[in-house]
Amino acid sequence: MKSGRNITVSAPAKIHLLGEHSSVYGKPAILTSVDLRLKVTISQGRTIPEELKKLQKLIDRIVKTELKLKKIPLYSLEISSDIPIGAGLGSSAAVSAAYVGALLTYLRVTWSLERIYRLGFKAEEVFHGNPSGGDLATVVFGGLIWFRRETPTLKLIQPLSFNISSKLTKRFVLINTGTPKESTRDLVAMVKELYTKKPKKVENFSNYQEKLVKELLTVIKEGNEKEFIRIIREGERNLESIGVVSKSSKEIIMKIEEAGGAAKICGAGGKAEATGVLLCYHKQKKVVENIAKAYSKNRYNLPYFSAKLGVEGVKLEKI
Ligand code: PMV
Repeated sequence: MKSGRNITVSAPAKIHLLGEHSSVYGKPAILTSVDLRLKVTISQGRTIPEELKKLQKLIDRIVKTELKLKKIPLYSLEISSDIPIGAGLGSSAAVSAAYVGALLTYLRVTWSLERIYRLGFKAEEVFHGNPSGGDLATVVFGGLIWFRRETPTLKLIQPLSFNISSKLTKRFVLINTGTPKESTRDLVAMVKELYTKKPKKVENFSNYQEKLVKELLTVIKEGNEKEFIRIIREGERNLESIGVVSKSSKEIIMKIEEAGGAAKICGAGGKAEATGVLLCYHKQKKVVENIAKAYSKNRYNLPYFSAKLGVEGVKLEKI
């Protein structure tokens, strides 16, 4: 099979507006892409950085099986990324999507977003064990996404035809509390264990989250600030009830709420310490930024940022 020359494919980050964890139990989630991108470059050569060899084996195997190839021609691989790793921003989904896209292009195989999703999901299953597929849907298709895992193999991915009202997005701040000690896989397994022991608790959590996610849909379209704050606060409390938000992140969130805003984890969260990125909202962004800078006694200057949302999904940057 003939290969191409120098190919770069990129994929964005994602955040969950709401619906993380309950999406593993077949409930809907609303996610949006975030304008931080990861780029995979494949070129002629044979240089694979040591730390990428395991990933290369995995993606090569998936693509080889899909294309019924005996072997993949040698290539050089480079990955660069603006997406903090393990911070609830979908870095692993972005790697899966961009890598599959780059390799298919290198092999001169036409791809569709559906094909990247299907193949990228196989990689996500290896990384996460039992992913809902919501992260990947968002980084592949981009924009604002309504996602629901109907059955283990059937997913509803509905790109929404509107953007989150700018009345709301101009007041979003993302605070990075750092990489959690636990992986997404660990946290999903922890909730599963809770489900085995206390099924009613997880069912109640999921049902409540579903109700909030449905309410959120019109609220983000219309830009209803009062309702947005209520839903984010209630959604966060509900996530706390299943043990995926650490004490230190609860403190920050509480401070933002006391100042009149709202905040939540936007991925799997974290139990012991850091919980990845927090999605924060306040009428005055400065209030959130000041809390990030000095949220408690001797502790830290947490990094914070704002980024454009609803950007394009996986795309070919260079060929
Ligand atoms: O931590 P992240 O960004 O990979 O988000 C995980 C979201 C979960 O709902 C906890 C898991 C999933 O597969 O949907």
